[in-house]
Amino acid sequence: MKITVVGAGIVGLTTAAGFADLGHYVHCADIDTAKIATLSKGAVPYHEAGLESLVARNVSAGRLSFGHDPSKALAEAEMTFLAVGTPSEDSGEMSLGALWSVVDRFEPWTGGARRIVVIKSTVPIGTAERAEARLRARLPAGCAVDVASIPEFMREGSAVRDFFEPTRIVIGTASAEAAERLTQLHQRLPGPIMATDRRSAELAKLAANAYLAVKISFANEIAGLAEQTGADYPSVAHSMGLDPRIGPHFLAAGLGFGGSCLPKDARAIVRIADEAGAPQTVVEAAMRANAMLPLRMVRKLEAALTDPSRRKVTLLGLAFKPGTDDIREAPSLRLIAELKRRHPGISIAAYDPGANGSAKKVVPAGVDICDSAEEALRGADAAIVVTEWREFRQIKADDFKNWMNRPIIMDGRNALDAAALNAQGVVCIGVGRLPAVPKDAAPVPRKPGELASQA
Ligand code: UDX
Repeated sequence: MKITVVGAGIVGLTTAAGFADLGHYVHCADIDTAKIATLSKGAVPYHEAGLESLVARNVSAGRLSFGHDPSKALAEAEMTFLAVGTPSEDSGEMSLGALWSVVDRFEPWTGGARRIVVIKSTVPIGTAERAEARLRARLPAGCAVDVASIPEFMREGSAVRDFFEPTRIVIGTASAEAAERLTQLHQRLPGPIMATDRRSAELAKLAANAYLAVKISFANEIAGLAEQTGADYPSVAHSMGLDPRIGPHFLAAGLGFGGSCLPKDARAIVRIADEAGAPQTVVEAAMRANAMLPLRMVRKLEAALTDPSRRKVTLLGLAFKPGTDDIREAPSLRLIAELKRRHPGISIAAYDPGANGSAKKVVPAGVDICDSAEEALRGADAAIVVTEWREFRQIKADDFKNWMNRPIIMDGRNALDAAALNAQGVVCIGVGRLPAVPKDAAPVPRKPGELASQA
């Protein structure tokens, strides 16, 4: 089958290369000409595990091609997938500018075959219906088109695996014929296929991401409670996760959620729900809880380190999660802002195994982005593990002690072996765990509710 995918971001490109690998002829279009030039050579301009080899294999097999003009997509392909960005506006509303500009450029075709346009981008409820009405109003009568919604649940860092092993394939259509053709297209993928209407498919995506945001914020609030009451959050989470109704995933407490999806989708569902008169107070609270986490970390640092304004603090990790070079809405950025707000004189060094390049474009002036963990840690008075890269687990206690001025580690992701480090003279303070007594200053007990009142 001939397929066009519009948008060469992680979702679009993985979808394009994945369908090509399943034997289809796929053309991937993106208005970013520099990106298309790189892709045409079989290279991928961002880090995503396994994607470059998947692209290269299918480009050289002649099944995957690239271009920057999507206008002939419907004329040339039976199915067109839209995977363009839908970024947040200041109001929290999703911007559909890129989506409409593509939809409005599709040219008519001859021969009468019915086309299917599939919206993969995360969009407000009702967008597929609006897109279909817009196309039908503009295209000549002989050009029949169905617009479907097949939301994408792939994660950055495991997008290729998620394409080939999806947890579920939700096919939202308003026509039995489109449902049948799209079910056939996805039949070779192992995930359960679920047919539904378009609005339910659109809400299914927003609801899943909002739920993940809620689960993470719940974990972080219980971890905060564990800290205040002398309980050990990882044990609490382990016990909760053994209940199949709760499950073990997305209970890791730390610096909270970031990235290009969870924060944006949480904001979008709150806004959509307000307009619809069905407020999502739980999701709103999850967003507020997430926004407080950098302050909670800075206050823990203050309890362990006297006068942070005159100290050097190292951030280990900047990416919103390990395995990516993505720092969009990363907790590291909020943490840097909070450190500088409360301690204008603080000296901040940072190192990320994958995201140094993207970080250099956005971190505020004065943050020293270093080429190695050692360089960043040299002379530091404390370090904060912001992203749980495996590399950080391999730093030995002696390295921390030799490189740092004071070996105080605030492990914002519970990534390190705190007990082993503490036993070897490194102060390692995790999230939701009782802190070991730091060398520099005794931890200051806090009153319940103090963090909330400071936010
Ligand atoms: C998310 C959804 O998981 C995916 O289904 C959707 O298609 C896109 O959005 P992604 O943005 O790649 O995927 O990241 P994810 O792995 O979900 O992590 C999001 C954030 O939550 C990260 O900042 C991560 O560090 C944080 N997180 C995750 C936690 O703080 N605790 C957890 O237990 C899990």
